[in-house]
Amino acid sequence: MNKKKVICPGSFDPVTLGHLDIITRASKMFDCVYVAALVNSSKNPSFSIEERMELMREAVRELDNVQVVSFEGLLAEYCRKNNIDAIVKGLRAVSDFEYEFQMAIANKKLYPQLETIFLTADSDSMYLSSSMVREIGRYGGDISNFVPACVHDRIVARLRETNGK
Ligand code: PNS
Repeated sequence: MNKKKVICPGSFDPVTLGHLDIITRASKMFDCVYVAALVNSSKNPSFSIEERMELMREAVRELDNVQVVSFEGLLAEYCRKNNIDAIVKGLRAVSDFEYEFQMAIANKKLYPQLETIFLTADSDSMYLSSSMVREIGRYGGDISNFVPACVHDRIVARLRETNGK
C-alpha cells in the first residue's frame, strides 16, 4: 500500500497551539507526518533548533504517526529524497497568503510532484503567532492560552531568561 507521507515545515520558534492544531489535523488525514523545524533565512530565531525540536517532540508525543526532524538545505530536496507527497501548512489570514503562495509555487518548481496543502487555521488560532508568544512571554505576560500545556513552563522560563534581549 502506498502510504501518504506529508511534512509540516516551519520555524516553530516556539511551537504554539496553532501549530499543534494543524499537525494534529494532518496526523488524522495522512499516514505519516514529518514535522520539520527549519531555518528561515529571513528570521533571527530566539530558540535554537535543538530547543525548538525538543519542545515540538514533547508537544506531539501522543501523536503516533508524527516524527520531528530537522535538516539543512531545501525543503523540496528533502521531500524528493524521502518520498514525501505533500507539504501541509496552516493559513491564518489573507496576510499569510502571498508568502505561502510564493513558497508553494517555488517548491513545486523545484520538485513538480510535490503538492502544498493549506489547512485553514482554527478560529481560536487565527491571531496566534510565535512572535506574539515571544513578546508576551518576555515581559512576563500569560501565554497559557497560546502554547501547549506540556511545554508551557519551559517556554516561560526560557523567555524570561531573555527578557528584553
Ligand atoms: O514558519 P516559517 O518561518 O514561515 O517557515 C518557513 C520555512 C522554514 C518553511 C521556509 O523558510 C523553508 O522551507 N526553509 C527551508 C529552505 C527552503 O527550502 N527554502 C525555500 C522555500 S521556497
